[in-house]
Amino acid sequence: MKAIRFHQYGDAEVLRYEDAPLPVPGTGQVRIRVAGTTFNGVDGNIRAGLMQGPMPLTLPHTPGLDVSGTVDALGDEVSTLRIGDEVIGFLPFVVDGAAAEYVVADAETLTSAPTSIPLADSAALPVVGLTAWQALFEHAELKPGQRILVNGASGAVGGYAVQLAKAAGAHVIATGGVGARGHLVARGADEVVDHTTTDLSTAAIEPVDVLLNLAPITPEQFSALSTLVGDGGVIVNTTVWMPAPSDEERGVRGIDLYVRSDADQLSELVARIDRGELVVDVAERVALPDLASVHARAAAGKLSGKIVVLPGA
Ligand SMILES: NC(=O)c1ccc[n+]([C@@H]2O[C@H](COP(=O)([O-])OP(=O)(O)OC[C@H]3O[C@@H](n4cnc5c(N)ncnc54)[C@H](OP(=O)(O)O)[C@@H]3O)[C@@H](O)[C@H]2O)c1
Repeated sequence: MKAIRFHQYGDAEVLRYEDAPLPVPGTGQVRIRVAGTTFNGVDGNIRAGLMQGPMPLTLPHTPGLDVSGTVDALGDEVSTLRIGDEVIGFLPFVVDGAAAEYVVADAETLTSAPTSIPLADSAALPVVGLTAWQALFEHAELKPGQRILVNGASGAVGGYAVQLAKAAGAHVIATGGVGARGHLVARGADEVVDHTTTDLSTAAIEPVDVLLNLAPITPEQFSALSTLVGDGGVIVNTTVWMPAPSDEERGVRGIDLYVRSDADQLSELVARIDRGELVVDVAERVALPDLASVHARAAAGKLSGKIVVLPGA
């Protein structure tokens, strides 16, 4: 089969589109004919070798944490899935990913794909949708009527965070760059602040109960932003190269989020998509052989929104 692999750590040029062995599903696993995978920011750090401590890999390695596709072979002791089922999932960091024509995955980690959107596009959900869900409901424990500031709302996680927070009955303040206002209002933002023209820490924003930071800001900017969180509030941070600030005196808790796979949560997100309550935004679709150029654009800071990668294109 064809796959993208890297045989050594380095910049985007280490990614090769080449032949790789067809994977065989082990006990409890299925093989998936991949319809779509995506680029996530962490993929660039893994490829560059920056994550070898927490995520030791065997090289060559195929990237691609998100998968959508069709089950095409079953390992032993798989009773929950059948050949032909359309599934999505968040694959483990340390095994070969879905930037390939086929990938194997533990059956129990997979969820039925949404039926109301194209199968390939549903790869845009798992990692970032679960990040938004876990940030809001596991870490921030967001309640109806609370106020939340989503910083970096126009990105891939932010799109889900805004929609889920609004659906939970929160008042949502979203930051976005030039041109993002219409999109963020359409996704449910009550207020939109342009971070390119406004200093958030001094903007006329009433205190919030929850600050969700998704943006590549500096520790100093993060600290200034944390003053917008009211006493007893929560700060959840996905940009974990810097810690979320806490303020014990005011009872403000800072939490660094590390997303994990959760098939039940993914199933709830799928149900919302199929009920028309959650929109999956895809910024761009690229063919698998072009994945290296996506990594290069990300490294240059030129990516915006979710990129779906298509082995079949
Ligand atoms: N820890 C974890 O488990 C985990 C899981 C998922 C994602 N992440 C990380 O979380 C971050 C968000 O993920 P993502 O997929 O949503 O990334 P993304 O699509 O790149 O979104 C980040 C957004 O931040 C905005 N932004 C850039 N500079 C900003 C600034 N100074 N102030 C406010 N907003 C700014 C950008 O849009 P505009 O400039 O157009 O506003 C961009 O849309 C990434 O760093 C990702 O690696 C971590």
